[in-house]
Amino acid sequence: MDRGMVIFVGALLTFSSSWLGLVLFPFWQLNGEQPYRKDAADDPYPLALQGTALAGQKVYQREGCMYCHSQQVRSEKFGNWWDEHGQERTGADVKRGWGQRRTVSRDYIYDRPTMLGTMRTGPDLANVGGRYSEAWQHAHTFNPRVFNDWSVMPSFPWLYRKEKVVGERSERALKLGREWTVDPGYRWRPSAGQWDAILRDQGEAITARFLSDPAHSTAAIDPGTADGKKRLLDFWLTTEEEGVQIVPTGEGEALVAYLLALRKAEVPLPEAKE
Ligand code: HEC
Repeated sequence: MDRGMVIFVGALLTFSSSWLGLVLFPFWQLNGEQPYRKDAADDPYPLALQGTALAGQKVYQREGCMYCHSQQVRSEKFGNWWDEHGQERTGADVKRGWGQRRTVSRDYIYDRPTMLGTMRTGPDLANVGGRYSEAWQHAHTFNPRVFNDWSVMPSFPWLYRKEKVVGERSERALKLGREWTVDPGYRWRPSAGQWDAILRDQGEAITARFLSDPAHSTAAIDPGTADGKKRLLDFWLTTEEEGVQIVPTGEGEALVAYLLALRKAEVPLPEAKE
């Protein structure tokens, strides 16, 4: 055999053995995996996504959420953390409440595509469905700074629509003060000059509203002082903008339905022991 042939056969063996070991063998091993049922009467686990949640998976994929969020809970053997005595421990994911056990291949049998993710700029979302309410998910998607000042997650205001209120406010409308809704996706505060002008115009009405709020009803307030102005502003920013509301678009509804359906690692599986 000349040298070219040796290199060729060597390369062929290298690539084909890794293909056999990393593609073909796992395919044979895992291809037939079925949902799990402890007893014949139990619901199978996992269940395939349906309807809006299935549509939401496409929005999640398109918006690139998996570039910052994984969907895989690590085993109790990995993920170091240090307890109050400085002792090194493992199993940080389960301790954080990201799932009751590690995730295994069976958790993903219906996922097309499987969005395991490689980066954890934000928390793992495999089991986020059980962590927050629907209203929280909407407000957080609209602008994550609503809850965490420091959040580096982008806002997704294009999944929401700002519209005039006709008749009653929609029950789907986000319950957010104008601080978050005047300029969707951003945080809005009037400048000192603008606030003075607003107070000149509507100062009495705003003060009356401040005092009729049960939280402030006994607090004296003087809109003439700097402190009074600031307290009125802080209050006014938490009130809703008159005549407009922010409602989720179909895609916004779908994304949140998907997030609420993310409940991997909740049902115990015999193969996921540690
Ligand atoms: C640039 C990175 C980045 C992108 C892209 C991103 N996120 Fe986040 N996400 C974060 C960070 C950082 C946090 C933690 C701070 C916070 O709660 O806002 C977070 C938190 C979350 C949480 C709360 C998780 C928890 O357990 O507290 C959810 C739910 C979430 N993101 C969903 C999404 C969805 C859905 C998308 C895509 C539409 C997305 N994220 C895109 C960085 C990102």
